[in-house]
Amino acid sequence: MRVFHKISEWQTARAAPDFAGRKIGFVPTMGALHAGHRALLERARAENDIVVLSIFVNPTQFNDLGDLTRYPRTPEADLGLAEGLVDCVLSPNAGELYADDYHYRVTENELSLRWEGEHRPGHFDGVLTIVLKLLNLVHAQRAYFGEKDWQQLQLVRGMARALFLPTEIVACPTERAADGLALSSRNARLSPAGRVQAALFPKILRESATADAAVPLLQAAGFGVDYVVDDENIRLGAVQLEGIRLIDNARL
Ligand code: PAF
Repeated sequence: MRVFHKISEWQTARAAPDFAGRKIGFVPTMGALHAGHRALLERARAENDIVVLSIFVNPTQFNDLGDLTRYPRTPEADLGLAEGLVDCVLSPNAGELYADDYHYRVTENELSLRWEGEHRPGHFDGVLTIVLKLLNLVHAQRAYFGEKDWQQLQLVRGMARALFLPTEIVACPTERAADGLALSSRNARLSPAGRVQAALFPKILRESATADAAVPLLQAAGFGVDYVVDDENIRLGAVQLEGIRLIDNARL
């Protein structure tokens, strides 16, 4: 497994003959890897010749500075999880990825303003911009995204279509703990009691008769509710617990 911190070194390696004619599967992450990321990497491993993982805590997608500073960072454990599944890890610093000082960015003007976008202004500009930069650096055949971040997945797909990107965007099912909580790097910040309580979120989201009916049930279970909405056959929700934001979705 080769780890690249310098973009120029990655670009030299990417242009070398050992990549020629081989299918590349790409998994972009912000690190703090867990079994959900492992599932993305395993799928990428099964479907491609070379697996590239990026680890970059992207500052432009954090509308809340506290959330950015508290975001878990576990670089050594991340490399341990990647070992054996990943060929190349791309982990540049912010100065290199944003040499333009974020003067150039991708903005979507419709879906990105709803739900997550309404509660996290600018979040999806940051996500789409970093995903485009990474896709342009990696030149993968396929890139893998989890369905937990449903709105992110739709927006990345939309960007790939709108900008004629050559990489196929592959959606992967949400990985869940035994009690149903969607795996997320932020779960690590919950107290043991909060972690038990958090499992009520997917349960209420799934079992409520309507999106509106889920709101008072979630509040009664101790969550602050940012939104619960039904979009075609998907129910999307975001809640706060112990100052930590959890998002999830359920098929109706
Ligand atoms: O889903 C994530 O972890 C991030 O939003 C992504 C896609 C790696 C972009 O920073």
